Amino acid sequence: MDNQTMVTNLINTARKAFTQASDLKALDALRVSLLGKKGELTGLLRGMGQLSPEERPAFGQLINQAREAIEQMLADREGQLKAQEQAMRLQAEAIDVTLPTDLPRLGAPHPNTKVLDAVVDCFVGLGFEVVEGPEIELDRYNFELLNIPKNHPARDAQDTFYIDDNIVLRTHTSPVQARVMLSQKAPIRIICPGRVYRADEVDATHSPVFHQIEGLVIDKDVTMADLRGTLGAFARQLYGDSITTRFRPSFFPFTEPSTEVDLTCIVCKGAGCRVCKGTGWIEVLGGGMVNPKVLKACGIDPTVYSGFAFGVGLERITMLRYGISDMRWLFEGDERFLRQFS
Ligand code: PHE
Repeated sequence: MDNQTMVTNLINTARKAFTQASDLKALDALRVSLLGKKGELTGLLRGMGQLSPEERPAFGQLINQAREAIEQMLADREGQLKAQEQAMRLQAEAIDVTLPTDLPRLGAPHPNTKVLDAVVDCFVGLGFEVVEGPEIELDRYNFELLNIPKNHPARDAQDTFYIDDNIVLRTHTSPVQARVMLSQKAPIRIICPGRVYRADEVDATHSPVFHQIEGLVIDKDVTMADLRGTLGAFARQLYGDSITTRFRPSFFPFTEPSTEVDLTCIVCKGAGCRVCKGTGWIEVLGGGMVNPKVLKACGIDPTVYSGFAFGVGLERITMLRYGISDMRWLFEGDERFLRQFS
């Protein structure tokens, strides 16, 4: 067989093998067996040593042409196989975007959460820090340090769930304030939002579980005027510039003097309506100057420092803000109700 035939045969065999190679791996094996160091073409080239010097250039050219032809076929087949594999992958991984699905409905913050966020924003803006504490609380923090000793009649208004004689579900977030006074030095400027518990029957305005936001400021020369200014700023920020506060004398064991704080009725802006029972005012907060007995019990010298405290029910201000008439809506988790606030 002459050289030309040999090379033509090799190319033809290679062409056939390439067409039969069904994937890139098989193709690569062919590349090695044809063009590799121990491949057939290299083998032919080695045979050049037996040729006479005159024959060699023509033979070399022949081999080079064969190499080029084989490389071209290889590249063509590689392109084909790659396209084929890509097409197969696309088909296997295809997603039918036209299929109908159950779209998950997007959740939204609870109205309580929205109002709490607004209140927190307001007080953080006034330089307050947000502090939280345990819902299962020692009697000492919930009552005794706040000037409500055992068997004191003030406990009746805050009857709660007892784990044992000394452990209760907290009735307000004031125990957080006691904890902060005991563990930090004055000045103190905090708000304490959180869940609280009382042995109350469920009705449109009561629930055994509800939320409070209480505030405490302790510093030198703090007065009732500071309380008035702070709560005024709070009322304006939450309900608008036309809302002011009205202080009425009241009683809390942990503040002296104590006050009930009314806001201008946010529905009628003071003209008188059903919500404010014709008075133009709605009762929203309790507050006062921290009782010196409480300061002393919590390790703060009442001859140097004074402070004010206040407490507000989150559900109450949420209901006012959105015109919700029954507190139970806020707890029942009925999606038809909650969806209105998304
Ligand atoms: N802790 C009181 C309550 O839950 C609210 C309050 C806080 C009143 C601070 C005065 C001062 O009834």
